[in-house]
Amino acid sequence: MMPILSLKNIRYTYPLETEPVINDVSFDLEAGKVYGVIGGNESGKTTLCNIMRGFIPELYKGELAGEVSLKGRPLNDSNIGELAAHIGYSFQNPFTQISGVKDTVYEEIAYGMENLGIARDQMIQRVEELLTLFQLNELADKNPFELSGGQKQRVALASIVALDPEVIILDEPTSQLDPKSTEDIFKIIKHLKKAGKTIFLVEHKVDLLAEYCDEIMVMSAGKLVMKGQTREILTDKRVLDYGGQLPQVTLYCLEAMGHQEVVPLTVTEAFSALKGSA
Ligand SMILES: Nc1ncnc2c1ncn2[C@@H]1O[C@H](COP(=O)(O)OP(=O)(O)OP(=O)(O)O)[C@@H](O)[C@H]1O
Ligand SMILES: [Mg+2]
Repeated sequence: MMPILSLKNIRYTYPLETEPVINDVSFDLEAGKVYGVIGGNESGKTTLCNIMRGFIPELYKGELAGEVSLKGRPLNDSNIGELAAHIGYSFQNPFTQISGVKDTVYEEIAYGMENLGIARDQMIQRVEELLTLFQLNELADKNPFELSGGQKQRVALASIVALDPEVIILDEPTSQLDPKSTEDIFKIIKHLKKAGKTIFLVEHKVDLLAEYCDEIMVMSAGKLVMKGQTREILTDKRVLDYGGQLPQVTLYCLEAMGHQEVVPLTVTEAFSALKGSA
């Protein structure tokens, strides 16, 4: 099957810099899968997101080599406006996401759809659905700038989902959120996966990645150093050397329980393993 998104030998250097911050990165994303992306600070995760969304090189300029393609078509065949309908992107900083031209959460969610020329009745129906899905009904009439960081993050995500893109890039979507709201975002991710979306999720909370992702990718100093099934990657201690983390329970089991056929990734799995060995 053709990958939905494909990167080949991507190398990127910011304007006025001499060293590339993305260095020969290649990978394919399969449609309908959730990819968790981890790695150290400044390893190039956000830069990679900008490349996949077409913001690099169109907005940031700099020097981009290699090929990015969406369903077999080079990304630079389309401009960033056209790509919005196919690739959604929620920024690491939710403040950047709010358009600044709309006075209410309701209008903010509809804004991208207006730009794509979606029919009014369809637009209203979709906004209503999203307000419920993202638990934003009570905030519908509020000014997006008067929301908390977490609420902004939910509005930003709702505005993206509104455009019904096939690929959704989320750069640390839960960084402003408490544990309950973080779980809520992961439930939405599960819902989006069920709807067939491909999700590229940069996120440090590995316990949740262990539960929700199909695959994990590890970035280190501008390179993609590991990519594979969630279980394979998140039980591999090399992740720690690359500046990533492993689930607490997995680390504990690796240290305390010695060699096992299957290393537990979640508390539930650890519990079963402990019962089995008792
Ligand atoms: N606009 C820019 N101009 C020049 N260098 C930049 C720019 N933006 C980022 N960089 C550099 O590129 C490298 C990768 O940064 P990037 O933000 O992609 O990393 P990251 O993995 O997302 O980090 P974090 O975990 O802190 O979010 C860093 O060394 C950073 O200083
Ligand atoms: Mg980042």
